[in-house]
Amino acid sequence: MANLSNRPTPELAASELEALDRRHVLHPHQRSQRSERRVIVRGQGSTVWDANGRKLLDALGGGIWVAQVGHGRAELAEAAAEQAGQLAQFTGFFEYGNDKSIRLAERLAALAPANINRTYFTCGGSEGVDTAIKLARLFHHRRGEPDRNWIIARHFGYHGATYGSGTATGIPDMQVAVGPNLPNVEKVMPPYPYHMEMYGGQNPTDFLINELSQTIERLGARNIAAMIGEPVLGGGGVIPPPDDYWPRVRKLLREHGILLIADEVITAFGRTGTWFDSEPRGMSPDIITVAKGITSGYAPLGAVMVDDEIVETVTGGEHSFFHGYTYSGHPLACAVALANLDLLEKEGLLERSLAIGARFRTGLAPAAEIPVVGDIRVVGATVGIELVVNRETREGVSMDLALAVADDLYETHNVITRNYGPTLVLSPPLVFTDQETDRTSAAIVEVLRRVDLAAGRIAPR
Ligand SMILES: Cc1ncc(COP(=O)(O)O)c(C=O)c1O
Repeated sequence: MANLSNRPTPELAASELEALDRRHVLHPHQRSQRSERRVIVRGQGSTVWDANGRKLLDALGGGIWVAQVGHGRAELAEAAAEQAGQLAQFTGFFEYGNDKSIRLAERLAALAPANINRTYFTCGGSEGVDTAIKLARLFHHRRGEPDRNWIIARHFGYHGATYGSGTATGIPDMQVAVGPNLPNVEKVMPPYPYHMEMYGGQNPTDFLINELSQTIERLGARNIAAMIGEPVLGGGGVIPPPDDYWPRVRKLLREHGILLIADEVITAFGRTGTWFDSEPRGMSPDIITVAKGITSGYAPLGAVMVDDEIVETVTGGEHSFFHGYTYSGHPLACAVALANLDLLEKEGLLERSLAIGARFRTGLAPAAEIPVVGDIRVVGATVGIELVVNRETREGVSMDLALAVADDLYETHNVITRNYGPTLVLSPPLVFTDQETDRTSAAIVEVLRRVDLAAGRIAPR
């Protein structure tokens, strides 16, 4: 791995950068009571450095489930530089295209299920989900069923922050006080095997299929365009479904002519050990949305991969798909994606993802005995550790306590993680070494042992 980390440090001192940040940057999801800043200025492999020169282990993939091939990869920097020198940008509208987006679309089609051969490029996941929702509605409209415009999504699902994707998201904070949100979006319960109390004593899949069936009946099958779901809930807390969940959902939707959108923004490109997680889970989706891992985060890019019949119906006859982003099919981003897919393949990072997961299982096993640990979920190189105040009731810890765990890992062990609700999440680069995996597990066990549930805080070391 080439070393790009010996670059000059930023021109401004860390304290100046932090002050300017407080003054001028509006951050996503930043709690206003937090005055500290973490200004990350360079990275190499799974290590990043802040503006003070502090070295941190990135167990969260660029802090947000990305960085599959690790930081500071010369191969991707060179692909970006070469493409910038050749053709950084040209529109993908109308008849225009470019060699890199064409080659990337061909490559995605080769990796995707047989029915999916066309890709629509976006700049990220939220735009992709909006695009998928529009495609699903248009598909039915063009077939003479304009009333089929309801979208079924799930509580705890995360699909993005735009009005379409944000409404499909099953986390209420996304919709509060910014309404009206997108109309005609209905939520159903997700599979959450740790919380069997959600299903009133029933088998979770039976309960959920019954609920979905009743929802379809209530809305009227002829009014529903699509259902959207992550194969494994990501931001909801790394929650894999029971094996029979997606096959049974798929069957029910098909019986009613309802499309299925697999949101693979987190799960694709090796995160869970496969190119596309929806395949082994039996989703057989009509549309797949991806982003993050497609470039390992080196350039903003998303892709909506679409079933042939949908494309033919939407664009058939005199029709066009009247929907476009300035940067759809951006040559530089697509060149980076091609080089990134080469690395994922060449370095066997899909298999590595599974090995990282297996090592986390072993390393985190001692955590299972710690009272605050309710559930440990490992899916490929992604981990959710659900923290509870009471193992009997399975009531989650407060956001403050879960955040304090992530903060302690950062401050005491220089390990970057994050809480999503009561769940501590890991999603490291797929180049995470055995030693880095073990170090992360040991740090987590150490911090969790210091959680004082009665006092609602973490005891000092
Ligand atoms: C499953 C899923 N879908 C969509 C998105 C939104 O993607 P973006 O933040 O690139 O817009 C995310 C982001 O984390 C995601 O996890």
